[in-house]
Amino acid sequence: MENLCAVILAAGKGTRMRSNRAKVLHNLCGTPMLRLVYSAVAALEPEQVFVVIGQDAERVCGSLEGFPAYFVHQKEQLGTGHAAMAAGELLSQRRGHALVVFGDAPRIKAATLRKLVQHHRNSKAVTSLLTALAADPFGYGRILRNPQGKIEAIVEERDATPEQRKIREVNPGFYCFQIPDLIDALGKLTNNNAQKEYYITDLVAIQRQDGKEVEAVLHDDFEELRGINTRRELAELSRALSKQKNLELMESGVTLIDPDCAYVDLDVVVEKDVILYPMVTLEGRTRIGEGTVVRSGTRISNSRIAPEVEILESCLITDSEIGSGTTVGPSARVRDQAVIGSRCRIGNFVEIKKSTLGDGTKAAHLAYVGDAVIGRNVNIGAGTITCNFDGQRKNVTTIEDDAFIGTDSQLVAPVRIGRGAYVAAGSCITEDVPPEALAVARARQINKEGWVRRKLMRTEPK
Ligand code: UD1
Ligand code: CA
Repeated sequence: MENLCAVILAAGKGTRMRSNRAKVLHNLCGTPMLRLVYSAVAALEPEQVFVVIGQDAERVCGSLEGFPAYFVHQKEQLGTGHAAMAAGELLSQRRGHALVVFGDAPRIKAATLRKLVQHHRNSKAVTSLLTALAADPFGYGRILRNPQGKIEAIVEERDATPEQRKIREVNPGFYCFQIPDLIDALGKLTNNNAQKEYYITDLVAIQRQDGKEVEAVLHDDFEELRGINTRRELAELSRALSKQKNLELMESGVTLIDPDCAYVDLDVVVEKDVILYPMVTLEGRTRIGEGTVVRSGTRISNSRIAPEVEILESCLITDSEIGSGTTVGPSARVRDQAVIGSRCRIGNFVEIKKSTLGDGTKAAHLAYVGDAVIGRNVNIGAGTITCNFDGQRKNVTTIEDDAFIGTDSQLVAPVRIGRGAYVAAGSCITEDVPPEALAVARARQINKEGWVRRKLMRTEPK
């Protein structure tokens, strides 16, 4: 939008969260609160988005990494009005309107902000703000209207009279200002109130007393505008977002066995005909391909799962890729850029770390595969361990196509098992095995005939 700047106020600590992190850094469905607000604001394509930061400034900046924003420092947090003042100088160099929003109301939709801006542009008002009717208005600034229904002022909970506290129309904290009038009114703000803070909400009364027009735009969905001040509200809004995400998934053709018990981060992509069992967690930039089934108790983070994969109970898959038709689990762990091919089998109690497995390769039970490059149709027997760490560095195990690793083998890296070679069960392999060879690396068995009887005779009972 032309002649529009946006300001997100995000400098506060969020004392009521009782946290070491700034409030706007807390996640809802895997996305930091500030990023959700930012996305809604950025969708309007303002000429510039200013973000006022203070507490935990570095991490707050970090949470918007990769997104265009201009950060403004509010050195001391002396209130929401004071935060707006911090952006004042930069704003005064701009023309048009400033959309100012709080960083702690993350369910806001771009369409609602657009409605506010458009309403403002079509009116004669110097300021327009959203209001909503709250069933429980506790904690919010209340909207005071004159007998003609025009907004006169906003009074904070702490400064309100018992009569004013009964008002259910609240200020959720979304404003559109005419920039010159905003700058003018900011200059008149004082901190004569219960908290000794500069309130952005006082701008309304200041402008009204100056005889200027202020418009209150009543929005019909209070839930969308709700702010977060406490962990409880964080959980409530997080749950609401999660519910919404799960509904969207179902609408797009995903089966959720129990939509109340599926935890899917907002950025996760789930293709159609996927089945998610209860207690599945899908995080970050995960993508789940068509027709894949994910059973209970599994967590998948920042991973790409191809179509038609079966992931059984209690698996942990992080930062990895799984090819189509592969089965994983139950109780398997796949991590650190592991890339598993198609039609593979990663069975119970198998851990795959930073390795690639070619198509059709199987590790069906109890194995540790780390820093390995494994070809196609390899069979990794139960109990196989790649001994990748020599105390100083990680070494690579290479296993070529069609090799067969007998159960309970140790492959001491760096080592290479040639194409089609066999490793006998129980071997400790320290040297390369040529293609199609059989490597046996274990002590030869001796049977001592009659040994038990002789032992018993030596130790006669007393
Ligand atoms: C504020 C409003 C209240 C409104 C409510 C809606 C004021 C005085 N009150 O109260 O009318 O109903 O939000 O949720 O504005 N911030 C700064 N710098 C500061 C203080 C705050 O950047 O010095 C930022 C915070 O990071 C936060 C936002 O402003 O994102 C709101 O601050 P908060 O302290 O949560 O205000 P409320 O008490 O909720
Ligand atoms: Ca708040």
